[in-house]
Amino acid sequence: MTSRRTSPGGAEPEPPLWEQWAQRAQDASEEGERLQKILARVGYGSRRVCEDLIAEGRVTVNGEVAVLGRRVDVERDQVCVDDVPVGVLPGLVYYLLNKPDGVVTTSADTHGRPTVLELVPEEPRVFSVGRLDMETTGLLILTNDGQLAQHLTHPRHGVEKEYIAEVECGPKGVSSGAMRELREGVELEDGWTAPAQVGQPDRGVLRIVIHEGRNRQVRRMCEAVGHPVIRLARTRIGPLRDTSLAPGAYRELTAQEVRDLSESVELLPTDTISE
Ligand code: URA
Repeated sequence: MTSRRTSPGGAEPEPPLWEQWAQRAQDASEEGERLQKILARVGYGSRRVCEDLIAEGRVTVNGEVAVLGRRVDVERDQVCVDDVPVGVLPGLVYYLLNKPDGVVTTSADTHGRPTVLELVPEEPRVFSVGRLDMETTGLLILTNDGQLAQHLTHPRHGVEKEYIAEVECGPKGVSSGAMRELREGVELEDGWTAPAQVGQPDRGVLRIVIHEGRNRQVRRMCEAVGHPVIRLARTRIGPLRDTSLAPGAYRELTAQEVRDLSESVELLPTDTISE
């Protein structure tokens, strides 16, 4: 074949001959969506970058290295880049919300209180990953990706959640004894808490990192050591932080953030991440 295939911009060189051949073979099947198009859509870069990923053998479909032009059924096929599963379903959405005070995390509240679902688009329907108390503010993920949600909330994965808690205390702040108790574990009515990371960046302000998700856990831990919570905010979920979201505001997670979250719950091996 001697004619040269050019990109829409006309500047990109054509792929090697064998890739063109493979692409034509795939084109013969009109089913599914082109792999490079899907990868570009979910954030792996331009079509050209995605074509390179495929040509380098870094993309698999159902465990087999994909060839350029491979078509994929997004409902059935599992696509991975560097062994990292790619969320290719077009309908999957991931929101990061800065939950304000006074909003409940349930999907419908029997008392008519505002819910977090009223703060994000109605369609597609999403649900919250875990919960925050009505008075607790801060980061909350909402998604319709059941698999990721399940992994993020499963105790086996122990995803870290970081909180800033303003607590009641005297002029000397929270004592080192109480800090040690919080760190080592506190006996609550539903059992001992796991060791936590606890710091006091300011008098009466605690930064607490836990990896469990029990009901009102941070409030109960602080109460148990004699320092009831005045205000509580979640500032990190696993690798995810954002200090720029106003209370009540949300944004979509980037493809990289979805990959980082997936990695943190072993939905993909950590040693195969590239970029
Ligand atoms: N711990 C709490 O006490 N409340 C929350 O909302 C989250 C963690």
